[in-house]
Amino acid sequence: MDHFLYREGALWAEDVPVAEIAAQVGTPFYLYSTATLTRHFHLFDEALDWGPHLVCYAMKAASNQAILRTLAAEGAGMDVVSGGELARALAAGVPGERIVFSGVGKTDEEIHAALTAQIRQFNVESEPEMAAISRIASEMGVEAMIAIRVNPDVDAKTHAKIATGKSENKFGIPIARARDVYAQAAALPGLKVVGIDVHIGSQLTQLEPFELAYQKVAELTETLRADGHEISRLDLGGGLGIPYARSNEAPPLPTDYGKLIQRTVGHLGCEIEIEPGRLVAGNAGILVSKVIYLKNGEGRDFLILDGAMNDLIRPAMYEAHHDIIPVIEPEVGVEPQPYDIVGPVCESGDTFAKQRLMPPLGAGDLVAFRSAGAYGAVMSSEYNTRPLIPEVLVNGDQFAVIRPRPTFDEMINRDTIPEWL
Ligand code: LLP
Repeated sequence: MDHFLYREGALWAEDVPVAEIAAQVGTPFYLYSTATLTRHFHLFDEALDWGPHLVCYAMKAASNQAILRTLAAEGAGMDVVSGGELARALAAGVPGERIVFSGVGKTDEEIHAALTAQIRQFNVESEPEMAAISRIASEMGVEAMIAIRVNPDVDAKTHAKIATGKSENKFGIPIARARDVYAQAAALPGLKVVGIDVHIGSQLTQLEPFELAYQKVAELTETLRADGHEISRLDLGGGLGIPYARSNEAPPLPTDYGKLIQRTVGHLGCEIEIEPGRLVAGNAGILVSKVIYLKNGEGRDFLILDGAMNDLIRPAMYEAHHDIIPVIEPEVGVEPQPYDIVGPVCESGDTFAKQRLMPPLGAGDLVAFRSAGAYGAVMSSEYNTRPLIPEVLVNGDQFAVIRPRPTFDEMINRDTIPEWL
């Protein structure tokens, strides 16, 4: 459930009409709902109420300072994957003890920064990375808390580009080698092993792959404990999917996911960490765009929007479906028309939907892409020298621009000219 609903014939974001924001901010822009963000965070938090836990929001999904502050104020930790994300989390006031650091290629500088911030835990992805963390922690005279990310070789049954738990993927160490690697970790200075980490992929629409992976983690916990390791935390990653097409998808609910976690690993007495991104932010955000032209093509009509693939790359990159709805509520009985919905960028890939049934629309009409809150703004670029679009946050009947649209001068002036030109 989200807080973008039709009311009095038009789309509202909580208690603000979307068209009113569009009139003030201009299109296109991202629009987030505070109530939806916090509701989704609490769904996870409550699903794990049966034991000690920390929900570390995977901030790669949407990392605006205002979003991070909103979630941190509710008690969220953060899953960061770069020095930049670490800096963002700290700038948003998230204490180091609530930050876990994931990612396959942590640099010396990033490790140093994370140790300085006294983060809760590194999720270690390889032996060389473990050696680097050990070396840097020893030099600094501190101890790094680590969990080792194991690759359970489980098929997440999701899009190939976002599946991470098969042995051919670059992530984690093969679970079969885990005992060896934990033994190495125990012998290295500057490291304190605290747990096991796993993340098998994103946009999972079934619970079964989680169940298979978490069972393997439970077995490994017992084995490693028998080997003498102290395993007190299990980081079970993120990945729970969301319904992108409201008509026919019903992915599992966080409550059922929480019960699955309890059933598979609850008996081990570990503190549970999870790293949801998409389910927290996805349906808490929409992309609002305006039709520039209705173009009658050969046998098809194109709705050309002012938003493009550089603003929302998911359809071009993953063939992702996003529901697109008019901001003016269609009247009952209006015959829908098929449209190809495209952006102005000079590539055929700049297509959001083909032959999508929509009520009749024309130049000047506003549309909203649903489920655009996660992996939307964060994956956007300035391709075609199109400015990064504004982000706006609604909270009840108030709204605020949380990232303004840059001017062309601001964009151009980031370039520097060598003295010979
Ligand atoms: N933890 C780790 C280690 C991850 O790599 C990810 C996502 C998450 C947590 C959060 O997963 P979530 O709960 O959001 O599914 N750009 C793609 C998604 C990439 C996901 C990458 N890793 C998309 O737009 O679908």
